[in-house]
Amino acid sequence: MIDALGNPQSILLLGGTSEIGLAVVEAFATDRPLRVVLAARPSERLDAARARLEARGCAVELLPFDAEALETHSDVVRKAFTGGDIDVAVVAFGLLGDNEKAWTDASLAVRLAQVNYTAAPTSSTAPPRPGWTPSTPASPRRCARTASPSRWCGPDSCTPG
Ligand SMILES: NC(=O)c1ccc[n+]([C@@H]2O[C@H](COP(=O)([O-])OP(=O)(O)OC[C@H]3O[C@@H](n4cnc5c(N)ncnc54)[C@H](OP(=O)(O)O)[C@@H]3O)[C@@H](O)[C@H]2O)c1
Repeated sequence: MIDALGNPQSILLLGGTSEIGLAVVEAFATDRPLRVVLAARPSERLDAARARLEARGCAVELLPFDAEALETHSDVVRKAFTGGDIDVAVVAFGLLGDNEKAWTDASLAVRLAQVNYTAAPTSSTAPPRPGWTPSTPASPRRCARTASPSRWCGPDSCTPG
């Protein structure tokens, strides 16, 4: 839950080894330890990312995530919420690729498009829990029950706006 001063207490980093993503998490963790869910492909780099955040006092959970496995993304988001609410989600996965190869190699071009474009909406639009519904489409979006800024509403609680 975001505290009364607007500070998040939990973060989901999709692309859990991303240098930019880890720098964002560290910036949030400057004043207080956070619960951090690193969603990424298992690797030594991921283990190092976990150790790096744990050294700052963060409680780190690892969640397998492959940007190319589009059909798994809603499950990944749902699992991220099983340990508690997520206050902030950072989408930081991506492939720089090689433009000179990609414009003549269709399979490589499709892979870059999957990871850099298609995977962002499939991982960012999944409801955090089964049965949750989008909040009222005002600006900012609001929970119909509590009128607080929110994106997804469940029977007892909502995600932050
Ligand atoms: N650094 C810059 O100056 C800059 C500038 C503009 C744009 N960008 C873009 O911003 C994004 C993040 O930058 P960065 O510097 O943080 O890059 P990075 O350190 O190379 O991180 C890229 C992240 O994407 C993940 N990833 C790639 N393919 C994946 C897949 N199929 N499934 C799951 N995760 C996958 C990587 O995971 P693995 O560890 O498993 O490979 C890694 O966590 C990149 O797309 C980059 O191209 C960066």
